[in-house]
Amino acid sequence: MNLAKFPRRRYTAGPTPIERIPRFSEALGGPQVYIKRDDLLGLTGGGNKTRKLEFLVADALAQGCDTLITCGGIQSNHCRLTLAAAVKEGLNCWLVLSEPSSGAYRADANGNIFLYHLLGAGKIKIVPDGVDWPTELRVAEAEAVAAGHRPYVIPMGGSNAIGALGYAACAAEIMGQCFDQSLSVDRIVVAGGSAGTLAGTLLGLELLHFDVPVTAISVVNPNEELLADAKRIAADTAAYLGVDAKVRPDAVTCYDAYIGPGYGQPTKEMVAAVKLLARSEGILLDPTYTGKAMAGLIDLARQGVIRPEENVLFLHTGGSPSLYAATHLFAESPAGGHEE
Ligand SMILES: Cc1ncc(COP(=O)(O)O)c(C=O)c1O
Repeated sequence: MNLAKFPRRRYTAGPTPIERIPRFSEALGGPQVYIKRDDLLGLTGGGNKTRKLEFLVADALAQGCDTLITCGGIQSNHCRLTLAAAVKEGLNCWLVLSEPSSGAYRADANGNIFLYHLLGAGKIKIVPDGVDWPTELRVAEAEAVAAGHRPYVIPMGGSNAIGALGYAACAAEIMGQCFDQSLSVDRIVVAGGSAGTLAGTLLGLELLHFDVPVTAISVVNPNEELLADAKRIAADTAAYLGVDAKVRPDAVTCYDAYIGPGYGQPTKEMVAAVKLLARSEGILLDPTYTGKAMAGLIDLARQGVIRPEENVLFLHTGGSPSLYAATHLFAESPAGGHEE
């Protein structure tokens, strides 16, 4: 794999750290957990989309585009980071956001919504949940063209062959760091949404012959759908890279048992996981992705699926700015009792 042949912008100064989290591991009473700190990636607030955007925005610039258009939920980390990349590059940015119920989007809300406004999104369009995203994005693209812009459309989550290159690169980064740190990892645990992160990671691991199985904790779709999406994006990415590779069946296991009532809806296990990592290591997760992924890791360790002697690498894909729009879920005193 030769990633250097693709245009790439750089939004992070160097590799993100891999940190051992002994207090968390001790509380778990089992595997030794390490964290790949992609929450510390560059652009406003960090997170996995920064790696995808390095390749996507470079492609937009190579095509002479002046406006980034993308979509997501109302508290979308991907939209925040696409906007942040646009700001950094001097581009316009239009966001199409879907609200779960009418009126759920409030312009004065905290978290990512606050940041859309602070960073100066060019246009925000609110649509109902369940719309056909490709159609909505085409409409926005046509509007941008009519307004005299040269738009570049980034799909949901930046999950396509170009965006996934960011996580193929991350797999290479992890392999180098594990070698440098004499760290032998038994599995990687990662949240799965639109599957670009999973696809890029799996393809990178495969092409590098870096034999570490991946445990994907789905936060939105059933296992079969997450796996099918990851395989499709990995195949597209391999074609784009010009290599012959695909995801082996034993390379990944998906778990959809931690979604709870639905995408973006809290579970008590997510709340417990966010609190445990915050209080044992001072590291923030998010309520929609990494909180549920960590809840999955904790439960799989308690069930013995993740064995006590394993070294587990949790890929922290970011998202903590959305915590500030969900403070009510965590409202209790530091000692653990509820506030009066
Ligand atoms: C914090 C965070 N983690 C994980 C994901 C999931 O990544 P992907 O959509 O590539 O599966 C997202 C996607 O928005 C995210 O914001």
